[in-house]
Amino acid sequence: MSDRACRPDRFGLRALDLDELRRRNGAKWMARPAAFSAWVADMDFRVAPPIAEALHEVIDRDELGYPNWGGPYAASPAARLFAPRMSERYGWELDEGRVHELIDVLQGVRAAVHHRSSPGDGVVLHVPAYHPFLDSIDSMGRRRIDVAWTGEGFDYDDLDARLTADGGASVWILCNPHNPLGHVFERPELDRIAEIAARHDIVVVSDEIHADLTMPGHDHVPFASLGPEVAARTVTVTSASKSFNLAGLRWAVMHAGDRTFHETIRALPGHYLGAPNLMAVTATVAAWTRCDEWLTDVVDVLDENRVALVGLLADHLPGAIYRPPAATYLAWIDVTGVGLGDDAAEVFRDRGVELSPGSQFGPGGEGHVRLNFATSPAILAATVAAMAG
Ligand SMILES: Cc1ncc(COP(=O)(O)O)c(C=O)c1O
Repeated sequence: MSDRACRPDRFGLRALDLDELRRRNGAKWMARPAAFSAWVADMDFRVAPPIAEALHEVIDRDELGYPNWGGPYAASPAARLFAPRMSERYGWELDEGRVHELIDVLQGVRAAVHHRSSPGDGVVLHVPAYHPFLDSIDSMGRRRIDVAWTGEGFDYDDLDARLTADGGASVWILCNPHNPLGHVFERPELDRIAEIAARHDIVVVSDEIHADLTMPGHDHVPFASLGPEVAARTVTVTSASKSFNLAGLRWAVMHAGDRTFHETIRALPGHYLGAPNLMAVTATVAAWTRCDEWLTDVVDVLDENRVALVGLLADHLPGAIYRPPAATYLAWIDVTGVGLGDDAAEVFRDRGVELSPGSQFGPGGEGHVRLNFATSPAILAATVAAMAG
């Protein structure tokens, strides 16, 4: 365990109250108010104090009208912080002229698939996959080209051969770090993806929403930071919403390194994509300027929980196979050996624990559940004990 785990619990991250959580109105706890909720990707932690203060200040000033950010189409203060934040945290020097604001991350991913491919085109996806990616490809009539997880890695030789044989692909949705596997694509693997994408002329849409939740010992490398040629075929989409738990506020940001997509977005009529939400921008500015210590403490708790889960599963659910993820607070657990039948998530639900069924994540999801461990160590222990029935 890192030295950082010795820091005092200044933000109350370890001292959550289960009754309080069960009274919450959000999707996570409302699904089954009396149960343990470990499904949707929201954290149970309290709002970071600087974010709460900044939001309260807006209310206290009675300033909920149109904000003054320098003109109707001027970049919000959050968008202006994006480039310096990427440079400081990840050494990625992005082109500020290519930054676009969004309502949410999925809007950017879907817009890129919509504008950079046509019905019938191939779209590459690592599977199992975050289910809205599966839905996006299917609902837009694109053809999914899966790269399957082998347990140790992804098989790029097989993908390369299929791309050559099957007429290629227009877009590759990369989710780095990966949901639900918690896999961090480190530099050699990203280089391989970049090489295949260049050779088959594929635009890469890189969803990096979980980047700040990369665990100690691993490094997040923004895909577009590999070099100018890679950046020129990449659309990167991210937000502060996962790492600072702001999903309800709705704001995201996109870097359209791919010139065609950038020009398509720029040519849309004004207000077509809406305008940024004042509260979301306020929260993101506070997150990106005043919450690094909070984030460090969150990563400490998550790091502790992802390791503790190994012992908890061994004690309560022998037969479950789990490897602590390199990023995110999502545990991908193979429960085939526990003997709960075809729908283990349904059995856990009957035992009072709401998890995400692996089947939701497409090929490779069978026999798995996804457990969200962004909660206090005590609630995590109680959740796993309840899973045992
Ligand atoms: C990989 C990934 N992308 C996107 C999202 C959703 O982001 P948004 O609500 O901004 O669309 C999530 C939420 O869990 C996610 O895990």
